[in-house]
Amino acid sequence: MTTSTFNLLVTPSATILSDAQRAERMSKLTFGRTFTDHMVVIPYRDGTWQQGEVKAYGPLSLDPSASSLHYGQAIFEGFKAFAQPDGGVKTFRPEANGERFNRSAKRLAMPEIPVELFLKAADELICLDRAWVPQNIGESLYLRPLMIATDPYLGVRPSNEYLFVLFASPAGAYFPKGVKPVTVWISEDYVRAAPGGTGEAKCAGNYAASLVAQAQAQEKGCDQVVWLDAVHREYIEEMGGMNLFFVYQEGGKTVIVTPELTGTLLPGITRRSLLELAKDLGFEAQERKLTVQQWRDDIAAGRMTEVFACGTAAVITPVGEVKANGFEMRINNGENGPVTMALREALLSIQHGSAPDTHGWMHTV
Ligand code: PLP
Ligand code: COI
Repeated sequence: MTTSTFNLLVTPSATILSDAQRAERMSKLTFGRTFTDHMVVIPYRDGTWQQGEVKAYGPLSLDPSASSLHYGQAIFEGFKAFAQPDGGVKTFRPEANGERFNRSAKRLAMPEIPVELFLKAADELICLDRAWVPQNIGESLYLRPLMIATDPYLGVRPSNEYLFVLFASPAGAYFPKGVKPVTVWISEDYVRAAPGGTGEAKCAGNYAASLVAQAQAQEKGCDQVVWLDAVHREYIEEMGGMNLFFVYQEGGKTVIVTPELTGTLLPGITRRSLLELAKDLGFEAQERKLTVQQWRDDIAAGRMTEVFACGTAAVITPVGEVKANGFEMRINNGENGPVTMALREALLSIQHGSAPDTHGWMHTV
């Protein structure tokens, strides 16, 4: 393959759904259950990316000894494409996802993929499966790139062969109850990531390790788990698959605060965008450490008025209640807050093309 041109072979699926079948599937969108007609597959071997292909979405063939199945060399990303008022389609900050994908790859001793090829793969897939891009506000086409190690070898060492796959899923609300405040459980029994670990990589193992804590949160009657730092078990890090923001009202100013990046939490692209968007709305934005005790005290004192979580899949989701062993507190009366909803509206307006893209975040497909 001439990797300089990044051409992908396109083999259209022989079994594309009819317009009626597709419309049926898109009429009741949730998150992550419906997949489009095609996917991109690009193998890596002999130290280089090989000819990539866009072909029918379907099962992958994998050797049972493939090292990703045993030792977890597996990373992924998530970003979204939005229908635009002029009939076009744009993706939100896909280069940032490509760059984070490569940082994850590096951490897991996997090969990096040229960001140009990552973008080309997404653009080609979206063009071919254009009919799957939802038109409604709040809906989008979710793109899921991933890379797995495919060497059929049981020795523990980085694989020599990999597979990059990118597929797409039309998506509605991430949480079944829509944009309603979620209840969160602060995990004391489990930690997500320790210094020097893989916390800032988007690798499959981080999610596997989180599931038991998420199940515990649900047993406690909560929707999501909140992680604390592994060393002091005191500082708030992030939520299951989202970053957290805390809204303060201080002497007439609205200040939004998010835990600073310490190497153990995922540097969210929505998080990074909201830090900039907040300033456009006249809010102050801060990245700093925040303890559970401060969270409790600041709510009790009325200084902290809202809490919300953000991420690609969930966009912006209000947090209405926080629970841990020995305490529970409601936030903003368990209702959606005005700052949370203003930021959500501002972000969605840029993504759906109803507000100008002053930051240059949107990528034309
Ligand atoms: N934190 C975790 C653990 C995540 O899985 C995600 C989702 O990607 C985020 C935060 C939010 O990141 P982003 O805004 O880039 O989707
Ligand atoms: C995303 O928001 O894109 C995520 O990856 C979070 C979750 C679905 C794992």
